[in-house]
Order: sequence, then structure tokens, then C-alpha cells
Amino acid sequence: MKSVSLSEILLNAQKSNWAAGHFNISNLEQLRAIMEAAKKFNAPIMIGLSEGERKFVGLRQAVALVKAFKEEYGLPVFLNPDHSHSVDSAKEAYDVGFNSIHIDLSKLPFNENIEGTKEVADYVKSKNPEISVEGELGYLRGESRIQKEVIKIKPEDLTKPEEAAEFAEKTGIDRFAGAYGNSHGISVDEPALDIERIKAVRYVLPERVAMVLHGGSGIPDSQIKEAIKAGISNIHVNTEIRTAYAEALRKFLADNPEETTPYKIMAPAVEAVRIKVEEKLKLFNSVIRI
Ligand code: 13P
Repeated sequence: MKSVSLSEILLNAQKSNWAAGHFNISNLEQLRAIMEAAKKFNAPIMIGLSEGERKFVGLRQAVALVKAFKEEYGLPVFLNPDHSHSVDSAKEAYDVGFNSIHIDLSKLPFNENIEGTKEVADYVKSKNPEISVEGELGYLRGESRIQKEVIKIKPEDLTKPEEAAEFAEKTGIDRFAGAYGNSHGISVDEPALDIERIKAVRYVLPERVAMVLHGGSGIPDSQIKEAIKAGISNIHVNTEIRTAYAEALRKFLADNPEETTPYKIMAPAVEAVRIKVEEKLKLFNSVIRI
């Protein structure tokens, strides 16, 4: 298989109106389910681990697991340290073998965010210019779970196009994550993406910089399609696959209290995640892209 870079894939997605899926994992079962769905549809795929997920799985272990699937399935797979909240944690992920980087210093003042993001981009590019680096600007609320209360997104949370352009230019990033009315987790009320803002950011960013939508769970399909049309080429989903996994596992354990064989207990959870990921890959129009 010819090796294709993540930047090439995301540029192709941007031009042809589809988005690559980024799915989070905290164990082998979720990874297997995602990879089976990707294999079925010949879809390029990103596997993400947040700092908490990384701590649980182990950085080296995540690299080894993804490498094994990549070799066996022959797909472009990119392992991403999702929301690295410090320069050191992003660099560490690169050093152990992650082949995509996300540095998220969006909680810091604008100039400090630029400084730290640039440091990571320079570090990674000096070692391998092909690795795609993502930076983040704007305030993304929520956590990857089903929210109990309404998440109030304030106008000042949202990414300003003129700042997005300056941020991308000064940091040298390849992927830009912004706040457009999205939030992490499934919110009580229906999210309303600011599609015009996505278009405005797309307009000011260089074509080579891909736009990432975080917080993909709970956003109605029609809005996801609009967001892709407006210029999003990479969508992150975590809560919906976590929920599918946990619900299937709870049901199996309740229905089969005597079962003790782990691979039998886990099978319905793997299946539930696979079905959910297939749904998302179809929605993102990410089917047969290799
Ligand atoms: P959700 O949990 O809302 O799907 O968000 C996931 C995410 O953005 C991970 O980076």
C-alpha cells in the first residue's frame, strides 16, 4: 500500500466534500470495533486517546496496538494524542510513535497558545515534516459524556476568523480545531452549529490547513452534513461510541449474570461500537476513500 499522509487525505476530503472520522478509544475492544468498520468501508481513520485515555492504555501500548491493526488491515491509520494540554505531553506522544499530533492550549491567552503550539509544531516538523499537527483556538465546553444540564455556549467562546488566520500562520499547524457552537458530550438541548462562522474561518485559512470539528456526538446529521459542506474535513466522535459500548455491556451483564468469559462478555460491546462507527463513516461520506 502506498503510504499517504494525513494532510493529503484531509485535503482530498476538503475538496471532495467528505470528512475523515476520528474516534477515541480506551481499550482494545473499541479499537477492534473501529478498525473493523474502517476495513469494511475502506475508510482512512484516526484513532484518538485523550490524556486520561492515554494514561489508562499506555502510550507505547497504544502505538503497538494501532501498528498491529494497520499492518493487518492495510489501511491508513493515524494515532492522535487528542487534546494534549501541555507542550511536554504532545512531544512525549510524538517521541513514542504517535503519527499525528494535537496540542490544545486553547484555555491559555491567545499569544501563549500561539507560542506553545508553535513550539510543538516546530519540534515535530524538525523530526518529520509529514506529521500533521493540530492546534486549537476557541473555548470548547463540556466533557465526553451524556450531560445532565444545558451547556450554555457564550458568543465569546466562538472562534474569531481573523484570529484563526493569525494563529494558523504563526504556529505552522496543519489542522485547525475551532469552536462553532460544538461542545464535548451529548448536550441536553440540541446544538446549533454556526455554519457561517465555519465558512468564514475556512475562507481565511490557507487551503492546506484542514478544519477539525470536535464534539461530534449529539450533533444532528443535517448539521454535520452542512459543516462538511462549509469546510470541515475531520470530525471527532467519542461520547456516542462510549455510550454504545457501555449500554451493550450493561445489558449483556444484566441478561447473563453467570457469564465470566471476557471475550463473550465483550462481544456485544464490540458489535455496538462497530455499528455506531459504520453509521458515522456513512454520515461523513468517508466510505471507500482509499
Ligand atoms: P464527543 O465526546 O462530543 O463526541 O467529542 C469528542 C471529541 O471531540 C474528542 O476530541
